[in-house]
Amino acid sequence: MNNTTTARRMQRVRPSPTAAISDRVRELEAAGKRIINLGEGELDFATPDVISYAGIAAIVGQQTKYTAVAGTAGLKRAIAHKFARDNGLTFQQHEIIAGSGAKQLIFNALLATVDPGQQVIIPAPYWVSYPDMVALAEGEPVIVPCEEQDGWKLRPETLAQAITPQTRWIILNSPGNPTGAIYSLQELRALADVLADHPQVLIMADDIYEPLRYNGAPFATFAQAALQLAERTLTINGVSKSHAMTGWRLGYAAGPAWLITAMQILQSQSTSNPSSISQAAAVAALQQPAAFFSQWLEKLTRRRQRVMAWVAATEGLSATPPEGAFYLFANCKGLIGRITPAGDPLADDSDVARWLLAEAGVAVLHGSAFGMPGYLRIAYAVKDELLEEACQRLEAACRRLTV
Ligand SMILES: Cc1ncc(COP(=O)(O)O)c(C=O)c1O
Repeated sequence: MNNTTTARRMQRVRPSPTAAISDRVRELEAAGKRIINLGEGELDFATPDVISYAGIAAIVGQQTKYTAVAGTAGLKRAIAHKFARDNGLTFQQHEIIAGSGAKQLIFNALLATVDPGQQVIIPAPYWVSYPDMVALAEGEPVIVPCEEQDGWKLRPETLAQAITPQTRWIILNSPGNPTGAIYSLQELRALADVLADHPQVLIMADDIYEPLRYNGAPFATFAQAALQLAERTLTINGVSKSHAMTGWRLGYAAGPAWLITAMQILQSQSTSNPSSISQAAAVAALQQPAAFFSQWLEKLTRRRQRVMAWVAATEGLSATPPEGAFYLFANCKGLIGRITPAGDPLADDSDVARWLLAEAGVAVLHGSAFGMPGYLRIAYAVKDELLEEACQRLEAACRRLTV
């Protein structure tokens, strides 16, 4: 061992593939290439003024000191109000915690509850960070593949088969990254029926994309579907994706007091409170009515349409329309095995993504990063003109492939 050896736990964690693609994009741009990035998981819209000004007012008003670790009373009130208004759920202040992004809260929850060797069920395709967070907590991620023909949703019988005496958590993400799939209230109830028989299993509902749904798709969160499981349900949410606030780093969670207290203890010894300025801005964000999202949704609906049109026009690609979020998860198995103009065969989805970046100058993510090889994730929350150009470049590049 020398002084540059990192801890053994670092062997459990891989760098985020989304960060890796962004690094590659920056490298290519530095080399003078013009790249269109459809790999990034964030809205291109500016944070709305009403929210930004609340942040500025907090700075000018000297709300710039430590707050309570789990967030200010004002923010917790706004979060409780949001859950009552949008989800019909009642939470007390001690059942709520705010953190520096939903990511931190998921991490805190896992770290606070998973003992070495305990299992966490993660339906695939999944958000890239879940398995690594579980591994860092010394748990065992149990990846359970879902089928495109099931709308990418976990079936109750598949869940029942995956549960063992070691199962500690199941993570449900709806609307889902990378597929945009949304669980209905009935589907959640059917999963809850299975979970009712396994009192050791905690349920994490990651609702970070909640308001971003197309064609008025209804939304239900797991806690609504299973009030009887409230003592072991943690609901994760935040303003990153909903309010174009990824850089403000503000997420929140609500659940039973025993779990929230444990998460708060961890947070008190790591990052303490999330930024006081972001907390003030989040209060303004959470006070906005549902109509707030309508213009964004109109734009996203058009963009979703545009990307689906590209996929439909390209032989070798197909996709189930996403019901929410801002990703299209396209089946690219028909492109695998095709030959590039340089004579190289595309061996798998990573090859397809790498080739599209080199040939079309468009960054997309390979499905393997989400635990589902043979697919591509296309994030379409980018400016209309850029998306149009990206689709044209992708279309032209795919036409250059031969069978
Ligand atoms: C499903 C899912 N959960 C959580 C997060 C993290 O959100 P935050 O920016 O609030 O940490 C993301 C971000 O990509 C996500 O896609």
